[in-house]
Amino acid sequence: MPLDIIIGTQWGDEGKGRVVDLLSRQADYVARYNGGDNAGHTVTVGEKVFKLHLIPSGIIHPQTIAVIGNGVVINPQTLLSEIEMLHANGVEVNPQRLMISYAAHLITPGHLALDKAQEMSLGNTKIGTTLRGIGPTYTDKVSRSGIRVEQMLDLARFADTLQKHLEAVNQKLTQLFHTDPLESSPIIQQYLDYAQLIRPYIGDVSSLLHEALKSGKKVLAEGAQGSLLDLDHGTYPFVTSSYPTAAGALLGLGIGVGCEGRVIGVTKAFQTRVGSGPFPTEVFDETAQRLRGSGANPWDEYGTTTGRPRRVGWLDLVLLRYAIRINGVNALTMTKLDVLSGFEEVKICNAYRSQGKTYPNLPLGPADLSPFEPLYDSMPGWKEEIRGCRKWQDLPIAAQNFVNKVAELVQVPIHLVSVGPEREDVIEVPHP
Ligand code: IMP
Repeated sequence: MPLDIIIGTQWGDEGKGRVVDLLSRQADYVARYNGGDNAGHTVTVGEKVFKLHLIPSGIIHPQTIAVIGNGVVINPQTLLSEIEMLHANGVEVNPQRLMISYAAHLITPGHLALDKAQEMSLGNTKIGTTLRGIGPTYTDKVSRSGIRVEQMLDLARFADTLQKHLEAVNQKLTQLFHTDPLESSPIIQQYLDYAQLIRPYIGDVSSLLHEALKSGKKVLAEGAQGSLLDLDHGTYPFVTSSYPTAAGALLGLGIGVGCEGRVIGVTKAFQTRVGSGPFPTEVFDETAQRLRGSGANPWDEYGTTTGRPRRVGWLDLVLLRYAIRINGVNALTMTKLDVLSGFEEVKICNAYRSQGKTYPNLPLGPADLSPFEPLYDSMPGWKEEIRGCRKWQDLPIAAQNFVNKVAELVQVPIHLVSVGPEREDVIEVPHP
């Protein structure tokens, strides 16, 4: 009864999409459990680059069924345009291949407007959100005034709910943020149209997955964002509003604890972050430019959703050990090792220092990292381009040493290493 959960161990953008894509070759179901279209998963298949924000990237495999769980917040416009884009690229999407939980929440233009107004009002202290309405939608969910997907099944009530929701939004927009109100009727009409198109996909994801797991099917839970953006366990308040950690998979899909399987953590060979918040190993100079890339390629470090240049830095094992602990990670995948090619030396932060004391682990969670200075281990780099490598033995010894060193320092095996954007650019790491 295997349930494998793929989680990001950093601030998102670890390359989970391609790991999911790889593992979903053997999966029967691929399930998104948190976040919304703030995520961006890029999968490259031959000439085609699929950028998906909402629908699990596993859908690209013809035999997998994609599901979107109750923990996800859904912008119906994004959902429908992704269905269209997949169709246009020859990927079949129908209610037999995609199910959306009745209990997922809907994002509306009201939530988008509130996200923008809130960020503007914060000025210098803004979170740097993706402006996709994520925070306000989860806020409504928690305050028990959200709009669930199941409401699309009763159009008269749906229209009434939308009307009340937009009145509440307009009150906030005008009175709290002193901005223009939204015009309700076109939004309501649009959402009624969306409802007609989305209704066939609505179902009981929890029940579907329960039966699937009971009958020995393989389920892959696909996390969005990363552990350090988790609402409870991340760099609060510079976090997202959902639970990207492994526990979030159970909560966001309605699966009980105790399912066999792995928690696969994905880490880049270095560190990136979009938006504000602490980042102890951040670099700014020429090193940053090399880690980030020029932006000319889809795999360079520019946000898939927002296009913003990502902040970059050296791999931080203090944070990786933390992510391993809070998720129960028992296998790691390292992505983008090829980006480190050509550096004279590569650095790994293995501990922090503060007031003369050394911390291999966080003393009190990651919210306030300002007292810490990173302590680096330096390793010799490698000059060779490694994109063409397909076998472990093909990698330069210095690159092998880097991977082995990280695994040893975090005490979790690294099973896979990716060395380029293509599906085939993946190397299995041999284990005795
Ligand atoms: P929100 O999720 O749009 O509310 O943004 C909250 C924080 O999470 C911001 O720092 C975003 O940049 C970050 N964030 C949200 N989604 C992603 C993602 O998929 N990758 C990386 N960062 C993300």
